[in-house]
Amino acid sequence: MTEFKAADIANPALYGDQDRLQRFYAWLRQEQPVAFAEPEGCRPFWVVSRHADIRELERLPDIFNAGPRMTLLPISVEQSNIALFGVESGVYPLTAMDGVHHQNMRALTQEFFLPKNIRKLEESIRDHARAFVGNMKEASGACDFATDVAFWYPLRVAMSALGIAPEDEARMLTLTHELFGAADPAVRRPGLTEAEHMVAVKRDYLAFFDGITKDRIANPRDDVATLIATGMPGGAQMSDEERIGYYVIVATAGHDTTAASIVGGMKALIDNPREMQRLRDNPDLIKTFATEAIRWTAPVKHFMRTVTQEYELHGTTFKPGDHVMLAFGAATRDPEAFDDAASFRIDRSPNNHLAFGYGPHMCLGQYLAKLEIECFFHEFFEQIGSIELAGEAVYTEGNFVSGIRSLPVRYSRSLAAATA
Ligand code: HEM
Repeated sequence: MTEFKAADIANPALYGDQDRLQRFYAWLRQEQPVAFAEPEGCRPFWVVSRHADIRELERLPDIFNAGPRMTLLPISVEQSNIALFGVESGVYPLTAMDGVHHQNMRALTQEFFLPKNIRKLEESIRDHARAFVGNMKEASGACDFATDVAFWYPLRVAMSALGIAPEDEARMLTLTHELFGAADPAVRRPGLTEAEHMVAVKRDYLAFFDGITKDRIANPRDDVATLIATGMPGGAQMSDEERIGYYVIVATAGHDTTAASIVGGMKALIDNPREMQRLRDNPDLIKTFATEAIRWTAPVKHFMRTVTQEYELHGTTFKPGDHVMLAFGAATRDPEAFDDAASFRIDRSPNNHLAFGYGPHMCLGQYLAKLEIECFFHEFFEQIGSIELAGEAVYTEGNFVSGIRSLPVRYSRSLAAATA
């Protein structure tokens, strides 16, 4: 008798308990590789959790459309989104677009995110990393590594690429946490239902980015916000929902995810002191470590696809109009795809994880994210000698983007024990 049912995938509390989450993912992959889920308050969908199966579906974007159902939301939230914003996801970002329209929209910023252009940002990213680790070094030897350090550094990098002023960063961080944490009572605005909370958060995003658009049209700059504000995908004017969706995906996808991999990567090193020492002794391993930290944490737990034609997978026939959840979180620990999948190995190679997705929607910011993580840990090992846990890690309760939201640590500049 199993402790799980497929509908648990929607339960935010599951994501707050890492051991249980990994047991659930293992059960899905082994027992229910194509599971049917109908969680209370949500429209039904299929869940695909094996690495090879997700790749198979991601290779067929004309059959498995990215929109209109982009992520798993309660029906109440989808309905209020449709009533107020005209789309069930509330915004219309790249991740909900398909076909030529998606290609044209992606092309607006694709150049900016190419590895050769991201490398030009390396010096400034290193400066940010040095400053954030430097602040940590100057502090008292104890902090919450998530809320005091890791949340802020990728935010600074993403906001400077986007062109958002440092004084607006705290507001953006709150809005992002509110967007992804709507189901978490610790995050939701007091006195509001989940649907009311989501509407209030979206309205605040709209107001903020409306001001940015007006400013960049009047005063274009060398930043991603100007590309979005003035862009004409395929020669056509962008709708307000598309423009806002674009800002929101770059602003939100750009930092919470990377922060989750930095915090989770740090915790994995603390939990595996030998790997920590090996990395400290071999800085050349930082690249493979960064990729492993992303696989290990898989901050984006899923995206949804909408079926356009009949398609069979392991004896199950998906019908047009069905929805399929791609459970990236489960695929990144699939033992069929990775040797010793449940171990954190800083030198894992190859490491074809699906934490960045796959196919035409594969993460646009992947090179930026990797470079950020590499720069951070490089600086960390330069400046901080030892680190240990000073309390329990607390995970966000959220089924879409989630990770550690609190990691109390003690550290020291010297290589002696952190408590010395
Ligand atoms: C560890 C960090 C990150 C993870 C795990 C991550 C994960 C993902 C995933 C799973 C997707 C959807 C892929 C699919 O549907 O197949 C995605 C798309 C996207 N990501 Fe990331 N991401 C990260 C960092 C970033 C950064 C730093 C940026 C930019 C500043 C970014 C921008 C985007 C954009 C714009 C898309 C939409 C691409 C499209 O639909 O064409 N991401 N990301």
